[in-house]
Amino acid sequence: MSLPSRCAERPTAALGIGGAVRPDVLRNPFELVDLQRRRVEYLRLSVTDRCNYRCSYCMPAAGVDVVPRAELLDFAEMVALTRVFVQLGVRRVRLTGGEPLVRRGIVDLVAQLAAIPGVDDLAMTTNGHLLAELAAPLRAAGLQRLNISIDTLEPAQFAKVSRGGALQPVLDGIAAAQRAGFAAIKLNAVTLKGLNDDALVPLCDFAAEQQLVLRLIEYMPIGVDAFWGPETWLPVAEARARVSAAYALEPDDSGEIPGGGPARYWRGRHRQSGQELRVGFISAVSEKFCEACNRVRLSPTGTLRECLSARGALSLRDMLRAGATVEQLTAAIRDAMAGKVDGHAYDAAVPTLESMSAIGG
Ligand code: 5AD
Ligand code: SF4
Repeated sequence: MSLPSRCAERPTAALGIGGAVRPDVLRNPFELVDLQRRRVEYLRLSVTDRCNYRCSYCMPAAGVDVVPRAELLDFAEMVALTRVFVQLGVRRVRLTGGEPLVRRGIVDLVAQLAAIPGVDDLAMTTNGHLLAELAAPLRAAGLQRLNISIDTLEPAQFAKVSRGGALQPVLDGIAAAQRAGFAAIKLNAVTLKGLNDDALVPLCDFAAEQQLVLRLIEYMPIGVDAFWGPETWLPVAEARARVSAAYALEPDDSGEIPGGGPARYWRGRHRQSGQELRVGFISAVSEKFCEACNRVRLSPTGTLRECLSARGALSLRDMLRAGATVEQLTAAIRDAMAGKVDGHAYDAAVPTLESMSAIGG
């Protein structure tokens, strides 16, 4: 696996902090702050590397090797680590995968995480395939928000993009989530030329009708680099231009849409029908948002990833299994976060070939 050069070298040595934490950077012992003084309050917890889909922008057609089950964090370990992150100032937790709903007992895990004092916002990103059955139990267990991936509304195109996924269960899952009372459901679509760029306006129409927030996501060359070229890569500005052919767009700076993530939101009004739309655009490459990054990731095997582009060197699982104390875990996490890079380099040189499903998106 190769990583973009800038991310491969951690800047700690250059900054003279070696393994130690610079006291002026981490003034408040109960906050996780990186060298750019970004406060980290959002944990993305990947609960499995397995997935029931093989989305063409995320995985190779043959799928990816999955890690042996014994290497995955168990629920008690996830809860213990989440508590440590909460002590460090994390307030929001999002469960990702792979596909989080294929992890057995996921509803129980949600209940355990929701019960942790200090977790104010518990969310999940899912492909929606199993949501029709699980939406209500997840809501009852304390899950507050859902992002559902849907790249097109055309069944054959959906099957092609997701390599074997099926549109109808996802639509049923969205309907079930609405019935279950999830408040701020967001739909996510990765946008690629020749794959689903003709689906963007229909997705907008669907989101507008259903009063859901749609986010159009620029492809990142992570895991699969097949789309990393001018024929297929759709810069976010082009996705926005396509939407604005059908909807008059105005920036939405109201801050009303919960999540506080990297999306830049717009209000749309359909040029013919006047139907209103909330649409966000997420661009990690052409309009980087690193300066606003407030997140940390934990892989399904318990490796801390301070940036999506970071290699991930700290195994919190190994520390836990070796009997580390909360203080030792806290110190190790702080130390790793202090080395969080100030900007990824996916637009430079070589894409990483570790699958997004293993990282957690
Ligand atoms: N680029 C951008 N987004 C991706 N996702 C998966 N792979 C990529 C990629 N290469 C997103 C999908 C899904 C979420 C889990 O991760 O949109 O919604
Ligand atoms: Fe698709 Fe998400 Fe599964 Fe990747 S992890 S194959 S994006 S459903």
